[in-house]
Amino acid sequence: MSIDWFKKARFGLFIHWGIYAIPAKGEWTYANDPWESGEYENLMHQFNPVDFDPERWAALAKAAGMKYVVFTTRHHDGFCMFDSHYTDYKITNTPYGKDVTRMLSEAFRAEELRIGFYHSLPDWTHPGYADRESPEFIQHGELHTPTEVQHREYLELLYNHIEQLMTNYGKIDLLFLDYTSKYKANEDYFDRERLLEIIYRCQPEILVNDRLSFYKDNVRFFDYYTPEICVPNQPQQVNNREVPWETCCTMNQHWGFYNTDFDYKPLEALTAGLMGCVAQNGNLLLNVGPDSQGNFPETAVLRLNQLSEWYSINGEAVFGTGKSYYTPPFGTCYTQKGNLVYLYFLQQPMGDVIMPELRGKIKRIILLRTGSEIECIDHWGFELLKPNEQRIRPSMVKAGDVLRIELK
Ligand code: GLC
Repeated sequence: MSIDWFKKARFGLFIHWGIYAIPAKGEWTYANDPWESGEYENLMHQFNPVDFDPERWAALAKAAGMKYVVFTTRHHDGFCMFDSHYTDYKITNTPYGKDVTRMLSEAFRAEELRIGFYHSLPDWTHPGYADRESPEFIQHGELHTPTEVQHREYLELLYNHIEQLMTNYGKIDLLFLDYTSKYKANEDYFDRERLLEIIYRCQPEILVNDRLSFYKDNVRFFDYYTPEICVPNQPQQVNNREVPWETCCTMNQHWGFYNTDFDYKPLEALTAGLMGCVAQNGNLLLNVGPDSQGNFPETAVLRLNQLSEWYSINGEAVFGTGKSYYTPPFGTCYTQKGNLVYLYFLQQPMGDVIMPELRGKIKRIILLRTGSEIECIDHWGFELLKPNEQRIRPSMVKAGDVLRIELK
């Protein structure tokens, strides 16, 4: 099943990159800031990311334990980061002139990462699209009504782009369509069946996310579910059935490059977020917003390198694992793969760790960072323990550490 790789992968890299990296105020600047007509679009004539080095990005992601990438081929500003056959508003008409989507796909594929394309359903620059969440409404309270013809043209452009992306860039493993506004919830604004027909015809094994439909109640319309900027605390269900899911989160506070945002989460927040997702059978898609020269921000590189160090020790607790049958102790979470349970420390423990349900079931416990074995405390304080609780004293552990608990 094509979903299997996704459920094993658990960790991916999201990249939000476009001409919005020039004003450096995030990918919503077109909607949030006052631009003169045509001024924003003209940024493309300055876009020249001479430092773009997709091999380096791929190497950083791979080392960090990421198994796939999701790249913004087009965001809501409509600018194509690929060599669109259908518009001039595209990367190959910038001073840089090269198809970065192609370069990136090839580089990540060469590192054996799976390839995902993000593509915005809304296009704020197209007269055939109008929505209360568009810049014209946000800024001026206006809402034009596209004519039938304009709307048709808009949809044709979307279908053509998707078809081109699905046929000219090799095997695409995943498509992240973003998004159906709540004001369009009651219409089939994008003609879902038509779009899905194109996608699955060109890429039969592709996984498509849930944002093409505002209705979250019909599993048939998506392969995986996408909460964002949060770590859900239970497996995700639709119609009482568990669904594959991935949450996307930023490393700092924005998706697209933002030159004054240095508010990066510490490494332990990122590893806790990752383990928290896996503990509920989900994936984490962690974002980086490269700058207009084509560089990952310095702190993002630092975090990826730190993740790499953490993953090289603890990666077995992530890849191929999922929710455990057991209840984790205070201040920890569990992942599990067969008879291996992984205990992740969200914080340094106050002292002994009490593991519910595991008494008599443990063969061996190893602290992955040091490789040392942790003894079960078998002759102390049982009167304080509930039946089936196992007590251990893992001294010297800190937030971010992982124990491998081998069950009998
Ligand atoms: C939010 C942002 C959008 C971003 C997306 C990623 O919806 O508004 O810009 O691309 O999250 O999931």
